[in-house]
Amino acid sequence: KQNERESLFIVLNFAKEFYHSHLLTSDEGKSIGLSYFRERGFLDNTVESFELGYSSDQWDALLQEAIRRGYRPELLEKAGLILSKEGGKTYDRFRGRVIFPIHNVSGRVIAFGARILKTDKNQPKYINSPETEVYHKSQVLYGIFQAKNAIRQEDICYLTEGYTDVLSLHQAGIKNVVASSGTSLTIEQIRLISRFTQNVTILYDGDAAGIKAALRGLDMVLEEGLNVSVATFPDGDDPDSYVRKVGAETFKKYLSQHSNDFITFKTDILLKDAGDNPFKRAEIISEVIQSISKIPDPIKRQVFFQKTARQLQVDEQTLISESNRMVLTQQ
Ligand code: UTP
Ligand code: MN
Ligand code: MN
Ligand code: MN
Ligand code: MN
Repeated sequence: KQNERESLFIVLNFAKEFYHSHLLTSDEGKSIGLSYFRERGFLDNTVESFELGYSSDQWDALLQEAIRRGYRPELLEKAGLILSKEGGKTYDRFRGRVIFPIHNVSGRVIAFGARILKTDKNQPKYINSPETEVYHKSQVLYGIFQAKNAIRQEDICYLTEGYTDVLSLHQAGIKNVVASSGTSLTIEQIRLISRFTQNVTILYDGDAAGIKAALRGLDMVLEEGLNVSVATFPDGDDPDSYVRKVGAETFKKYLSQHSNDFITFKTDILLKDAGDNPFKRAEIISEVIQSISKIPDPIKRQVFFQKTARQLQVDEQTLISESNRMVLTQQ
């Protein structure tokens, strides 16, 4: 078992090197892949530290080279690098795409994300490695290896949705950043962050889906006892596009001015929906109480009850007894 994991790491590392050197040295890689990254403003330095790559637009370029080097096709398949069609024909999973290697916390490559170069309705924008012996999507955060020292140093972790958000923020000098890669946040990912800091700021995309995802992640982070803030971006922007638009300094200022603690964020959004409707307002109050009830630390809970009472213009004692009632009826 240990041997098999080790073999997977080795073949994944080979693939990473293959894609990376293709990007930097082949004509196809340079004219298509590297120029794609450059047009998006990614610097050579970023290409290096994230070991970005390019997969050739051929059926089995990786497979052929792997065989030449003595790797068994079964191993490549177990690593999620190739696929078999019915009838036994095998081909590369990633073709004609730019490659984002996904590293574990100790820097070993465990999977890949691969982006299409031009929007195409018939193909997914990103293709990712499947679950393997060494890759469990729900336990991984993109960028954690490159970010972990900065997270510890700054004592805060920025959590984004996407690969390119991580790259762009790094370039803007914000290195304490990871991505949940479009999935909803899991407990394992939160525990990974909590090895380095207790403070998280969620920077999800400024669209309806991003806001919904932020709300979903929130309660889970609270239950783990972390301090959560949320900053949202203007509709249509994500951290990558926004930092590119306004520059690093304005971006940092925006973050400090638009980060709200989770409860203010949640209450704001819900209140916008409810308007003056008293029934809806009552629903909101109970939603928010539920979130506060998840905070393990009683002192922090107390602070949030005070703050929320003010924000919702209700009596603090009512919130607390409602919270107690909920906790009791849920058990
Ligand atoms: P987004 O659609 O916000 O993409 O998905 P993005 O990160 O902004 O990418 P660019 O800027 O267009 O290149 C957020 C994340 O969701 C995952 C990826 O991890 C992506 O970074 N995703 C998205 C997929 O896995 N597959 C998809 O088809 C789309
Ligand atoms: Mn290199
Ligand atoms: Mn999005
Ligand atoms: Mn995005
Ligand atoms: Mn984007």
